Amino acid sequence: MEKRDALYAGKAKSVYRTDDPGRLILHFRDDTSAFDGKRKEALARKGMVNNKFNAFIMGKLEEAGIPTHFEKLLSDTECVVKKLDMIPVECVVRNLAAGGLVRRLGVEEGIVLDPPTYELFLKNDDKGDPMINESLAETFGWATPAQLERMKALTFRVNDVLKNLFLEGGMLLVDYKLEFGMVDGEVVLGDEFSPDGCRLWDARTREKMDKDRFRQGLGGVIEAYEEVGRRLGIDFA
Ligand code: C5P
Repeated sequence: MEKRDALYAGKAKSVYRTDDPGRLILHFRDDTSAFDGKRKEALARKGMVNNKFNAFIMGKLEEAGIPTHFEKLLSDTECVVKKLDMIPVECVVRNLAAGGLVRRLGVEEGIVLDPPTYELFLKNDDKGDPMINESLAETFGWATPAQLERMKALTFRVNDVLKNLFLEGGMLLVDYKLEFGMVDGEVVLGDEFSPDGCRLWDARTREKMDKDRFRQGLGGVIEAYEEVGRRLGIDFA
């Protein structure tokens, strides 16, 4: 497969076309950003760690019957994915209260959310990714009711698989964000799953092991990501 021109450069990943119109290459960069890109830093090894982490998780999800865009690792920092027609809606499930939920509702960080909550956000940097709902998504044409139903079902299936996976490694999956797209008429999980887009706490000490270490200036960001991977048995080499 031949890498062609860049299609898009996001805050932490770049997407390249290939000679196959149905496939793209994702390049995980070391760049890290928070607060709508207002805080940026390059963290050595992050591209490699997130690329391998994402490959591992996508493999686990595929094994559980969840359709994903992931095809194969290409290098330390690149993988091949199916080209999706992306749905501009971010799906967030929360098992424990943290982040935006704590800020918005003033609830105590760490309380158990039973049942887990489900929120939708519009993927739009200029508008600051505002919270939306199914009605707004349908009216403004961001997603159809059928897509929204499937995205919700898949997002909760991901929770069933990953909550247990992380718990076996002594970690709590606090919350996470997923993005989906369409290929051949099917809703498929896209984007990435890494400690950049979820919250993971040590189950015993509740120490933060995710991007909140960067957001909150706690340090040891990549060390924490690597520790999460080590507990799952991922070989970063
Ligand atoms: O900020 P908030 O608490 O709403 O984030 C919920 C979850 O979604 C967190 O795990 C966060 O890392 C993730 N998220 C993300 N990208 C966004 C917004 C949230 O990965 N644009």
